[in-house]
Amino acid sequence: MKYDINRVRTEFPSLSVTDNGVERVYFDNPGGTQVAKRVMTRMMDYFTTMNTNGGGAFITSRQSDNLLDEAHAAMADLVGASDPGEIIFGQNMTTLTLHLSRSIGKSLKAGDEIIVTRMDHDANISPWLLMAEDHGLVIKWLDFSPETYRYDLTSLDEVLSSKTKLVAVNYASNATGTVNDVKAITKMAHQFGALVFVDAVQLTPHFVTDVAEIECDFLACSAYKFYGPHQGLLWARRPLLEKLSPYKVRPASAELPHAYETGTQSHEGMAGTLGAIEHMEWIGMEMGTGGATRRDRIVSGFNAVATYERKICERLIRGLESIQGVTVHGLTAGSDLNDRVPTVAITKEGAHPRAMAESLGKANIFVWDGNYYAIEIIARLGLTDKGGMLRIGLGQYNTEAEVDMILNHLDRRSSF
Ligand SMILES: Cc1ncc(COP(=O)(O)O)c(C=O)c1O
Repeated sequence: MKYDINRVRTEFPSLSVTDNGVERVYFDNPGGTQVAKRVMTRMMDYFTTMNTNGGGAFITSRQSDNLLDEAHAAMADLVGASDPGEIIFGQNMTTLTLHLSRSIGKSLKAGDEIIVTRMDHDANISPWLLMAEDHGLVIKWLDFSPETYRYDLTSLDEVLSSKTKLVAVNYASNATGTVNDVKAITKMAHQFGALVFVDAVQLTPHFVTDVAEIECDFLACSAYKFYGPHQGLLWARRPLLEKLSPYKVRPASAELPHAYETGTQSHEGMAGTLGAIEHMEWIGMEMGTGGATRRDRIVSGFNAVATYERKICERLIRGLESIQGVTVHGLTAGSDLNDRVPTVAITKEGAHPRAMAESLGKANIFVWDGNYYAIEIIARLGLTDKGGMLRIGLGQYNTEAEVDMILNHLDRRSSF
């Protein structure tokens, strides 16, 4: 079935908002996507019909508990896990990672080693650096090539050892868009008995996520990057969660996942996350091959989206390459386009990224500039003192016409 961009767009109320008659072009998606109608309906319904705390002996509390269980089950289906008890909701990916790092750190001793990377968002670096500081751990860095924008896995071999306890790696870069072979990285790390923590924040909006296939130990993402509410998510293997000590208050349940879900959660955020997953199912049913299970429908939704996004991403990259002075910092070859998300970072000779972003902002085209917390990448590319890069992040509701608008703007303006 064909991907119907106009139908997808009608699912997002914010896309019809204009400013003085000018439409908004949302290319700021890697920083946070617009929210699907089903998300809003789920949140509104939560507030209207069952808003209360958990474990009470009355109807709203039972309904609320059931809905939150359903949100955990749906999220397990989204990441390819079979056990909803392995899904931990939290404020955002950063907070969940800092939280878990405390439990992991407690299980380590001085001299143990951890590996972090030069390609990660800082939310998958600093929590581990802080953990290392607290416990006297040795930090090793996995570099990427500024020419190929990929990790060279022989350099992972060089930093891995029997002392390595944790490898923290990104699935997709929030700057260059590179999708990494986290399955191969996990396999290598596991040969040394190290745990693998995957930051999938930028992967989950675009591709199918399958923890059973990757075989990693932890995987984190954020619903507000996949058309849902501001909500963080962490999947972890049950035996690991049971072995680690959760940092929790005494009366809180020791059962999974509640032992790691501190305090009163954002129930409305969980309801909204369920809505975001139902939105992907809807795409799968209407524009993909559908399927008998929720997981099937989610997979088919992502496959439909990925095919569409690859097409508009290629149009964007080819257009950017034809503009004088523009460098695309990421994978561009046709054969590599399946190994990237449609997040495209550029620099333009003689143009400061902020000035370009401001000029585009005046035309109601929203993009990010700077480092977007990917400070290691920006440093590795020598762009720290140059304002970083301009980041154009496409999503499932962007159109070819919008891509042409940004290309025209960047091409037409010889100076910013
Ligand atoms: C790759 C990546 N990891 C982690 C984060 C942090 O996510 P959160 O805002 O949910 O803490 C982001 C946010 O932009 C990101 O892009």
